[in-house]
Amino acid sequence: MAMWGGRFQEATLAEFRDFNDSLSFDYLLAQQDIQASRAWAQQLAQAGIITQSEVDQLDSALADLAVAIDTDPKLPLQTSEEDIHSWVEAQLTAKLGAVAKKLHTGRSRNDLVATDLRLWSKLNAQTVRQSLLGAIAALLSFAERAGTDVMPGYTHLQRAQPVLVAHWALAYVEMFKRDVSRLDDALARMDVCPLGCGALAGTGVAVDRVALAQSLGFASAALNSLDAVSDRDYVVELSAAASICMTHLSRLSEDVIFFCSGEAGFFKLGDAISSGSSLMPQKKNPDVFELLRGKTGRVLGHLVAILHVLKGLPLAYNKDMQEDKQGFFDLMQTWQQSLLVLATVLPHLSVNVQQCRQAAELGYSNATDLADYLVSKGMPFRDAHEVVGELVVYAAKQQQALEALTLDEFTQFSSLISEDVYPALQLDAGLLKRAALGGTAPQQVLSALQQAKQWFESV
Ligand code: ARG
Repeated sequence: MAMWGGRFQEATLAEFRDFNDSLSFDYLLAQQDIQASRAWAQQLAQAGIITQSEVDQLDSALADLAVAIDTDPKLPLQTSEEDIHSWVEAQLTAKLGAVAKKLHTGRSRNDLVATDLRLWSKLNAQTVRQSLLGAIAALLSFAERAGTDVMPGYTHLQRAQPVLVAHWALAYVEMFKRDVSRLDDALARMDVCPLGCGALAGTGVAVDRVALAQSLGFASAALNSLDAVSDRDYVVELSAAASICMTHLSRLSEDVIFFCSGEAGFFKLGDAISSGSSLMPQKKNPDVFELLRGKTGRVLGHLVAILHVLKGLPLAYNKDMQEDKQGFFDLMQTWQQSLLVLATVLPHLSVNVQQCRQAAELGYSNATDLADYLVSKGMPFRDAHEVVGELVVYAAKQQQALEALTLDEFTQFSSLISEDVYPALQLDAGLLKRAALGGTAPQQVLSALQQAKQWFESV
């Protein structure tokens, strides 16, 4: 029997119930619903709506229910209640009888579900935050292990300039640091309690909403009842934070997949995190990184879905809002799992040091250094760029590297070039020169690593 049955004279169609009910997915909010109900019962007692003995009975039955859910989170699924709020009330009624029927005084499922979902979001955002820090720790270890290993850096997926492998890893650390800060922003903004706002217009019971908010661990109470029951900004914000973070994970994955390819061969995947082919015996596939890339699509889809659910809704609550949950639960779970997986697999990823270094030397990746050399001899950069461009064409015709050209050949292009060009064209010389803040010079990367570690200790 639905909790709203009194007004109805005909039975509900089974097909409509199936469509309408949310217990099959909102059972995940059981603990939060119990938590909110316990806090609400206290307020009802404070307001003189129920006696101390009644609140004690409610509180103890709710505490028992919390233990039962802890043991078997799927317990609600054994019933056919409409949603988790009805389930909790039905359980209380079965146990306590009449007292349980007083709990819903002055509240609505509208302020209740908004409170439950916020509590759930706060809890799960904290869990994700931990995993995000775990992923950052794994990247920092990777950077540390890579030391001064060098690899080709790319623009347009064309070899551009050599970079340290650690510099590459620390680029993702910077992205994930922003993701932590985005998560913290969202956490701070969502820390507002909607309970006590009733269905839409506020509650008629004389509760202390500020005390209620505090008792549930919220920083403050929502200031407008219409907004409180219909605000799902925090779902959107977390979904957006997840989407941005997963986009970072996806780009990292794409890099790793390429670096592990036969064509590049810069990184090697450990057997423990690779899979094979059912047909081709030689294959070793980076499935884990492909899945991270693929799951990003799924997360982005959930962000777009919630935005579309909300965009046309009039104030205040509308049943459309029940659609805020499934995708969001899946998004948070996928985000969390992806971060855990990244932290787990990174220790199994190693660098093919020789291959990386050789590749970094190819592709005229020291052409900029030659231009810089000419600048140091007094040539304006734009002219140097032109001269080196011609030298690259010349060397490519001979199928030679720049540093393999003779001094005679060099001087045909510019009389400013002398013997000291050769050390300037060395890979390490080029790296050393990129020593300004944020550059890939080994000293700079080392200091970036130290700074990132300090940041890590501070969050
Ligand atoms: N299952 C509903 C949801 O998730 C709970 C709120 C129902 N409120 C209502 N007035 N029908 O949104």
